[in-house]
Amino acid sequence: MKRIGILTSGGDSQGMNNAIRAVTRTAIAGGMTVMGIRNGYQGLIEGDIEELQLRSVSNILDRGGTFLQTARCLEFKEEAGVLKAVKTCKDFGIEGLVVIGGDGSFRGAKDMSAHGIPTVAMPGTIDNDIACSEYTIGFDTAVNVAMEAADKLRDTSASHHRCSVIEVMGRNAGWVAVDVGISAGATYVLVPEVPFTLDEVITKIKRGEEAGKKNFMIVASEGVFMDSKKNKNYPYLSGLGLTSATKFARVLEELTGVESRATILGHIQRGGSPTARDRYIATEMGCRCANLLMEGKSNRVVVIKENKIIDLDIVEALNMTKEFDMERYLLANTIGI
Ligand code: ADP
Ligand code: F6P
Repeated sequence: MKRIGILTSGGDSQGMNNAIRAVTRTAIAGGMTVMGIRNGYQGLIEGDIEELQLRSVSNILDRGGTFLQTARCLEFKEEAGVLKAVKTCKDFGIEGLVVIGGDGSFRGAKDMSAHGIPTVAMPGTIDNDIACSEYTIGFDTAVNVAMEAADKLRDTSASHHRCSVIEVMGRNAGWVAVDVGISAGATYVLVPEVPFTLDEVITKIKRGEEAGKKNFMIVASEGVFMDSKKNKNYPYLSGLGLTSATKFARVLEELTGVESRATILGHIQRGGSPTARDRYIATEMGCRCANLLMEGKSNRVVVIKENKIIDLDIVEALNMTKEFDMERYLLANTIGI
């Protein structure tokens, strides 16, 4: 193998730049040339590609986002799109591919491998919701960004004896909410995976007041308010008309008498300089991806298992399931009394 390509796909996450840098430098050190593909699979279909030199990836390791940019490419989900992408690889002499993204992107990587382009993938998403890996790059930075925002909200809610309802990202997963809840000291953490009742939240606030607590913090995953199969709370919450953090805060205020404000942190959590943890895991994973291709491997995904970086067959990886960490959830909801 003489030339490989690299792309980032799906939602961006902090650490993607570190991974691109690691792949590029490892591959160049191994005697290969590296082609940077812009805008994920879209760029692969369109041939939006440029060679990356050692210095192309200088001074990006402290930047969030992905300098190759990313996309959600519907065309690639169809066979015709994959065939166009394969043709681009042939035209550009790309003999192997590294894909950084979530499980949708892994499915694309599997398709490229099946069409004769050896492909390896690694997990990049702030949600930490990829079944085959204990960790996904971007998660630690996103949690830190949200924790810092929650600390600031605590300052003002403490001054006003208020309850702050903070909506964090996680369309289908409560991992961000749980870690933000633990690290920022939430009174209650709400996640799509675990059913809760409004009464439970109100009782906790009232008990807190009786014990002298003056300000409160509810950390909720956005997924709690969304209609999805993974959200175990949707039928109950929508029945009460509680389909947003703002509505939830209003009802909490009515029922507890504690003035409440909602803050939706949104995409701010997907930005910012990656933490050391995201930088070194992304670097190690990127390096492993490049090495796998140089060893002639294909259809592999680089993941973390029992705190070690390993690689798995993509098909096997896509069939895995990940248990929600109930211990961590219970810790989050017992410590905030
Ligand atoms: P993520 O990779 O973060 O889960 P998406 O689900 O949006 O994000 O997937 C990213 C891209 O991967 C999609 O825009 C599409 O190009 C490709 N992709 C997603 N699902 C599939 C699939 N089932 N088969 C092939 N490619 C897919
Ligand atoms: O999957 C990562 C994620 O940030 C989710 O937490 C969030 O629901 C979604 O992406 C937002 O996607 P978009 O960038 O399309 O708004």
